[in-house]
Amino acid sequence: MSGGLYGATPMPASDLKNDITADDRIDRLLVAHRPGYGLTRPFYHDPDIFERDMDRLFFRHWHCLAHESVIPDPNDFELFKLGAEQVILTRAGDGTVHAMLNVCRHRGAEVCTQQKGNAKAFVCPYHAWTYGNDGKLKAARLMPKDFRREEHGLKTLHVRVVEGLVFISFAETPLDFSEVENLLHATCGQYGWASAKVAHRQSYPLDANWKLAVENYVECYHCGPAHPEYSETHALEQPLHLIEELNAKMEARTCALGIEIGSGNHWQTSREGREAIHAFRYALYDGVKTGSKDGQPLAPLMGRFSDFDGGVTSVHLGGTSFLVCYADHGMIYRFIPKTVDTCEMELIWLVDAKAEEGRDYDLDKLTWLWKVTTDEDKAIIEHTARGVVSRFFEPGPIAPMEQNELRYIEWYLEEIGRA
Ligand code: FES
Ligand SMILES: [Fe+2]
Repeated sequence: MSGGLYGATPMPASDLKNDITADDRIDRLLVAHRPGYGLTRPFYHDPDIFERDMDRLFFRHWHCLAHESVIPDPNDFELFKLGAEQVILTRAGDGTVHAMLNVCRHRGAEVCTQQKGNAKAFVCPYHAWTYGNDGKLKAARLMPKDFRREEHGLKTLHVRVVEGLVFISFAETPLDFSEVENLLHATCGQYGWASAKVAHRQSYPLDANWKLAVENYVECYHCGPAHPEYSETHALEQPLHLIEELNAKMEARTCALGIEIGSGNHWQTSREGREAIHAFRYALYDGVKTGSKDGQPLAPLMGRFSDFDGGVTSVHLGGTSFLVCYADHGMIYRFIPKTVDTCEMELIWLVDAKAEEGRDYDLDKLTWLWKVTTDEDKAIIEHTARGVVSRFFEPGPIAPMEQNELRYIEWYLEEIGRA
């Protein structure tokens, strides 16, 4: 039976809560998932599933935290908030990059109380334990003789810096990153991201579960109706045969520039111990050079590009990090879960490090497209967040144009389904 409010089957919400454990309840929802369909209400609304997301996905996978140009000099640091966690990103005196939790090993106070700065050490404001900017405990006042400083450094995270991008993993044993590194060299490396700088950053708080934001990012079925500005220049909206034609022309232009850009689908689950990455290319419309209002250049060419190829390279990495490369600028998208009902999206605009604002690029023009697009995305994500809390919400089938979303959902379900 179908149709009409009361024809719909309300999804189980709290009905089973008292009799079975949260884990059992989640496992039943995983089994009940209908392949080819979207996620049901509890995946966006249930605090136990949010906790499962954190345990099995967020704290297991790698995340892009920043471009390293935000801490250019020895002893620079910046503080990042990722939900309930705070991470201090530092460049030590020897130039190495470190990431550590902002939690004192004495009684847990925040040791770094500034958003950004330059410091050789962090002195806890509570009892003045003092940590070096590599996380090591250097001094602890009036502690007994047998106190072992070397056992009480700040907890550090695994860090990799690849093509200027800083990645962190909270996992004790991080997922193998070699496939990711190779594909980042073959994509961002060609665009010169290692010698880029941050032109602008903007954070968007969203009243929505984090998965609604990511699902929206990975599909372009909504681009036609929701993003008229984006659809003026980006061809993803077109039927497949037209896209293939445009892509072939783009590849010929890239090839004529002597540039080979990698693509590949390593979207395996963490079961095999490796981080997932997917990179693909797509064309802008004929004559469009980059992601700008009028299709015209925004900034000096980057990396190996001596001319525009009219293409875009898109990278999906782990569960929360997404990159977009144009010949003259780059974009980093960070998705940060906060609570079951809220998240944050940070957009970071990259240009060549030598480019000067005002002389080589106009910041308003550079940021126009993705600001307009992200304002529209915020609205549709929040519309969806308010819709899916209905106990009568039943997900529909994923459309053929939403294949990346389908893959993301399947990957996500496998991730949170395994212990
Ligand atoms: S909590 Fe940091 S020194 Fe006591
Ligand atoms: Fe969008």
